[in-house]
Amino acid sequence: MQPDLRITLPDDWHVHLRDDEMLEAVAGHTARRFGRAMIMPNLDPPITTVAQANDYRARVLDAAAAASGDTRPFDPKMVLYLTADLSIDDLIRGHQAGSVLAVKYYPAGATTNSASGGTSIISFKPVLEAMAEHGIPLLVHAEATSAELDIFDREAAFLETEMQPVCEELPELSVTVEHLSTAAGVALVRSYANTSGSITPHHLSCDRSDLLANGMRPHLYCKPVINSRTDRDALRAAAVSGDKRFFLGTDSAPHPLATKEAEVVRAGIFNAPYALEVVAEVFYQEGALGDLERFVSINGAVRYGFEPSDKLIRLRRRSEEEVAKDPPADLVTSEGVRVRMFGVAEANLWTIA
Ligand code: NCD
Ligand code: ZN
Repeated sequence: MQPDLRITLPDDWHVHLRDDEMLEAVAGHTARRFGRAMIMPNLDPPITTVAQANDYRARVLDAAAAASGDTRPFDPKMVLYLTADLSIDDLIRGHQAGSVLAVKYYPAGATTNSASGGTSIISFKPVLEAMAEHGIPLLVHAEATSAELDIFDREAAFLETEMQPVCEELPELSVTVEHLSTAAGVALVRSYANTSGSITPHHLSCDRSDLLANGMRPHLYCKPVINSRTDRDALRAAAVSGDKRFFLGTDSAPHPLATKEAEVVRAGIFNAPYALEVVAEVFYQEGALGDLERFVSINGAVRYGFEPSDKLIRLRRRSEEEVAKDPPADLVTSEGVRVRMFGVAEANLWTIA
């Protein structure tokens, strides 16, 4: 018997929807599969004010409604990018009004559109103190950027030098270590009470040999970089554990194919269309489908102060006799730009409605 289960409608607690025609092309994929989504602010220029966040949210809702053709309510949660220009008053007012849910810290130079980021989190202590006081979560891209550091050691290094001091000095601040990629990240989340971690489908399903061993796979290149098998297994153990501090954030990050198949490849994996199929397959392989709902639909909502959805989705693993679905491998925007989708194999194995 193949698994056939119903779970609460999931949320995506970390997604890049971009803007303009890329937003129009990708928004429906997130809106179709998720009730809420935490919308990353790394546009160029970044979202740093509540007014910008409100405008961006309206564009996201328009694009989602136009594309999804679905009456399911979609609730984008907006995030401000932490820069020296961020106004504490604006942030607090926006948070109280429900316009902004959280603040994101990017180390400058760590990833796509991170040029406006910081060089030290604790240098933002006055903002962080205000956030702790008002219950505003800090979302962290945890990657050290020093050129001397090996690329596979950068998350662990950042946790030690940047994250631990913040967790210790500001124990009241709610921190999410985004897109955990290492066993060290899992351990840090477990060791501070007010800390949680989001985990992506690709960090759960792949390791660095998938990225590098059988030909170099540019479509598996993201930040933080997919790490060792040991790290992948620590992430899987955390995800299936039911521990409420771990939840899904897809980090779906579309890039035009031409920038992924190039001399220098941009970081980011577009997984929104098949993210749930990939995670379902991981939980199936781990014999843990009973814990899937907690990871994709419950833990994150509770963490950010929301009721899990009252809607359900159905996930069914297809039998081998069923005809392959051959789901599309690329998305094409209105301007003809192609974007490679992650998870086609898993999309052939699962049907979700
Ligand atoms: C993201 C992007 O493309 O915006 N890229 C990525 O590799 N994950 C940025 C980010 O979250 O690091
Ligand atoms: Zn991201």
